[in-house]
Amino acid sequence: MLPFVRPTIEDEDIAAVEAVLRSGWITTGPKAAEFERALGAYLGGNPLVRVFNSGTSALEVSLRAAGIGPGDEVIVPAMSFVASANVVLSAGATPVFVDVDLHTRNLTAAAVTPAISARTRAVMPVHFAGLAVDMAPIEALACQHQLRVIEDAAHAIGTRDHGRLIGSSGDLVCFSFHPNKNITTIEGGAVACFDPALAQRLERLRFFGIEKDAEGNMDVHAWGGKMNLTDVNSALGIVQLTRLEKFNTRRRELVKLYFQHLPKDPVLLPPADDAGHSWHMFAPLIAFAALGVTRYEFQQRLQAHGIGSGFHYPAMHLFAVYRKLGYQPGDCPNAERIGAETLTLPLFPAMSGADVQRVCSALHSVLEELSRAGA
Ligand SMILES: Cc1ncc(COP(=O)(O)O)c(C=O)c1O
Repeated sequence: MLPFVRPTIEDEDIAAVEAVLRSGWITTGPKAAEFERALGAYLGGNPLVRVFNSGTSALEVSLRAAGIGPGDEVIVPAMSFVASANVVLSAGATPVFVDVDLHTRNLTAAAVTPAISARTRAVMPVHFAGLAVDMAPIEALACQHQLRVIEDAAHAIGTRDHGRLIGSSGDLVCFSFHPNKNITTIEGGAVACFDPALAQRLERLRFFGIEKDAEGNMDVHAWGGKMNLTDVNSALGIVQLTRLEKFNTRRRELVKLYFQHLPKDPVLLPPADDAGHSWHMFAPLIAFAALGVTRYEFQQRLQAHGIGSGFHYPAMHLFAVYRKLGYQPGDCPNAERIGAETLTLPLFPAMSGADVQRVCSALHSVLEELSRAGA
């Protein structure tokens, strides 16, 4: 059985974790600080990097650090993992959903513009599946309307936008190191920003709001949570980061094979390609309804051929919690079509070229089985 995702954990990862476990200091400490420096060096552009216990925490704290709260609106693409919208609620603000491009799955300046209101304080571009949002027009809009830009780069460590690494510039750029991501700390996340005052707010919000003077006396002026990343997780991240470029190169090689061997059938729409794509996921759209099956039935058939698959994601505006804000089917047609037709195929660095061919021939077989059944 080929799963759709598997983290790459090797002896050096295990040795790094074991060393911290044996060191006598296992929560946040020198390894977390080293991971922050290593991420900053990798991204380039001198970002101030702060690590968190999840990508969700990174996003939530970024919104709060940017001063976003009750009464404010944040523009979010309707196609993303639900964390992207939930953090806006956590900060006390309101998500405003906009549609995405069918091929890139990303929001565009053209979709964001009409959603800007007097209450809009921020926009959250999500670099979906590892493909960069075209940031220059978004940044121009943000500048014109004085909006903060909180990038959800959960899928995008190693992604480039017109040759520039995501996180090497910007306002607040948030990464996730969940086990499905291109590198993992098991659970974990990071924020890259460029303003020392902002970085300090991130630190306080991350850890109880604690402020200390030179003698270590403590005060708390405002709320802070507990969202620090441990040294055990950080040690794993440091080692994983040294292999990120290798992992992403391998992902690109595997995707090239997918593009060569995928069935050329009008029911299957491959995702958009780009030189800067980090290929966190490979998810074509499949017109299940036209094939006379549900996605679940299609997945079961693939599974019978030994191929696992995933579903990323349902359109967020149609979740019950967001329908309460007034959203309904038809509001974001591309996100809704992606939500209905997307199927995540196996993609992880340890896969072989033969694995990709096995997935593609299973797809050919399932399509043939279905056309025979329909005939
Ligand atoms: C687009 C997106 N944003 C945010 C997150 C949240 O990251 P984490 O799981 O590290 O909290 C995820 C996680 O899958 C995600 O896919």
